[in-house]
Amino acid sequence: MKLNLPNQRSSRGAGPSIGPLITVTEDRVFALGNSVFSYVFRVSAEGVLEHLYYGATLGAASDAPRHDRRVFQHVAINFDNQPNYNLNNICLEYPGAGRSDYRQSGLKVRNATGSGIVSLRYHSHRIVSEKPDLDDLPSSRGGDCETLIVTLVDEEFGLEIDLLYTVYRDYGVLARSARITNKGVGDVRLQDAASSVLDCPVGDYELLHLHGTWACEFNTERMRMPSGRFSINSTRGASSFAHHPFLALMEEGAGETHGAVFGTALVYSGNFKISAEKGEFGGVRVITSLSTPEFEWRLNPGETFQTPEALHVFSSGGLRRMSRFWHEFVRDKISPPAFRLKPRPTYLNSWESAYFDIDESKVLSLADCAKQVGVDMLVVDDGWFEGRTTNATSLGDWTGDKKRFPSGIPALAGLVREKGLKFGLWIEPEMISEASELYRAHPDWVLCAPGSTPSKARNQFILDLSRQEIADHVFNSVDALLSCGRIDYIKWDMNRPMSEVGSSAFPPEQQGEIAHRYMLGLYSVLRRLSDAYPDIIFENCASGGNRFDLGMLRYMPQAWISDMADPIGRLPIINGASLIYPLDVTSAYVPPSPNHQNGRATSIATRFLAGAFCAGRGLSLNADDIAADFDELSHWMTWARDTAPDFVGGEFTRIFFTDNEVCWQYSERSGARIYVVYFQILSGVNKPFARARLADVDPDSVYTLTETGERFRGDALMLSGVPLPYFPNRLDDDGLLYLEHGDFASCLLTFEKYKK
Ligand code: DGJ
Repeated sequence: MKLNLPNQRSSRGAGPSIGPLITVTEDRVFALGNSVFSYVFRVSAEGVLEHLYYGATLGAASDAPRHDRRVFQHVAINFDNQPNYNLNNICLEYPGAGRSDYRQSGLKVRNATGSGIVSLRYHSHRIVSEKPDLDDLPSSRGGDCETLIVTLVDEEFGLEIDLLYTVYRDYGVLARSARITNKGVGDVRLQDAASSVLDCPVGDYELLHLHGTWACEFNTERMRMPSGRFSINSTRGASSFAHHPFLALMEEGAGETHGAVFGTALVYSGNFKISAEKGEFGGVRVITSLSTPEFEWRLNPGETFQTPEALHVFSSGGLRRMSRFWHEFVRDKISPPAFRLKPRPTYLNSWESAYFDIDESKVLSLADCAKQVGVDMLVVDDGWFEGRTTNATSLGDWTGDKKRFPSGIPALAGLVREKGLKFGLWIEPEMISEASELYRAHPDWVLCAPGSTPSKARNQFILDLSRQEIADHVFNSVDALLSCGRIDYIKWDMNRPMSEVGSSAFPPEQQGEIAHRYMLGLYSVLRRLSDAYPDIIFENCASGGNRFDLGMLRYMPQAWISDMADPIGRLPIINGASLIYPLDVTSAYVPPSPNHQNGRATSIATRFLAGAFCAGRGLSLNADDIAADFDELSHWMTWARDTAPDFVGGEFTRIFFTDNEVCWQYSERSGARIYVVYFQILSGVNKPFARARLADVDPDSVYTLTETGERFRGDALMLSGVPLPYFPNRLDDDGLLYLEHGDFASCLLTFEKYKK
């Protein structure tokens, strides 16, 4: 069955809407929304919160059809013994457990009697004209928004649950979370605590999610929504590259530019689960939660558990519009505000040019190369601290190696800065090597379940950040490095997943809490550091994209998306990540060729252009590599520096992505310049023209294609499009423009708004 959708108005932000964002009728219909979406639910006669509508803006949302479903069904349970009131056939806001609804519940609890039966009924509500902070968790920032807090209670259990819904005037995002308080007299064991439950009505849906592995993150998978349950999760203690905390439920057949899409993402960096379940009566329930089978939380009387925040986006304009909503929101409400429109420095990173074979004189000679080739910052990536000549040693000992860096890191930073460069440093502060002073002093600081032997990965253990004193130590050791005041950039790495999760500092009944307590410890460190050093660019990295998520982005404006530095390997990674992330939060460098991950040889242009639309752009090449291609590298680094202001705050668009051709557009935020990159993976003969139909161009303006001097009207660029790949890079003897010959070819087109 097709979902019947009116047109959604704006494609850029939510556009103006006047009046309240949340209204409540006397008979308790809650209507939330702005000019791009409405979200409606009500309280039933039994006090159950019934979901009524989520989709494009309704003229009178609180008049949304009430869908009364009290009809006889065979073998159905009557909730509260009310005739034909069967919760299994009703869309619910936050279902309880064990009472006539057989779909998965968002809440799983056990009290001292062993009972897990929960009936959640409306108790009260209030509306606040801001967004409350979510205790110690990262969450989207407020501003011109309203929050509805609906309190549900379970009398027998003594549970009180606040459901929080924040609607922004200018964003197509609904933020939700839940606060669960034990108002009873005995302990409660929380085994699942959903951030949100989204019940979508009967329809034919498809699912889209992101999955992958090391150096192969953000693969897009799309499938028909089956009957039963599909679920993605991480139990690795990091959001992980295996599954991403994002799921889109799509109207069947929806595409890049058409159809309804319901996108869900979690603002959290640890274990998670997002499931979609098509129940007996055809509706689909999406549950977003931090809980995995390992999770359990002891809630003592009077205590509250705050779930992470789930974000929801509705688009009636396919994936492209969904991405627009995510991009604007991530940039404005998640990323640290100081970096929102801040051009990022170009950089030379030492990793793929030197690995662990690095010392002070190499750094200084790389700094000279960096200066000559026109980059802004030198980054020492790994290998700089005491004894760190392989990955088997020294994590935890964050002082410069005395032999190889005799001047010390602060002085070295000073020397690099004297050359007119910024200075950046790699750290991995959550980790500890067995061969380290820190381990010798505190072997018990390793994250490990009581009685288990911790496993190593990349020769290292994880520090137990669920313990306050260890989180404090991590803060202090990074603070000691940064306090020299000469470090402009930090690459914060995390190179292994968790295993044997537990902590000897907690009693047996709290071992299921450790993975989440670790995240709370980490977030507290990141909050303190980003507050103390607001001007440092923190770049989040976890062997590439193993913890690339909205939680980390709340503290760090940039993230290293993948260790796949080969441009062809990186194209699908950027394409997939762009479903939710603006490229403002990403970085990329020109790696050596042949590539160190997959051995592919590619041109400098293709290596640069694959990452040209990322905010952070640079090189990871040694002095010989730089000398060999100096002019071309210098051309691109100058281009990257000159265009740096354009690549923050603009709009990224996926024009097309096929097995062999990729085309992306990036519009500078005022619309004055539009950049298009095109990649042809394998060359061929007599190929048909591809057309890049550009997006959201001013139809009445004229644009100059700066590479050829030709002029085009905006409407033609959008409707007729740019023929590819015959623009522009090379002027042949016959006077025609061709793409460079051979495999892995690429070109850049720049359209400049023509001013008469
Ligand atoms: C893994 C990262 O993803 C790489 O970019 C690099 O920083 C290494 N760690 C350094 O050990």
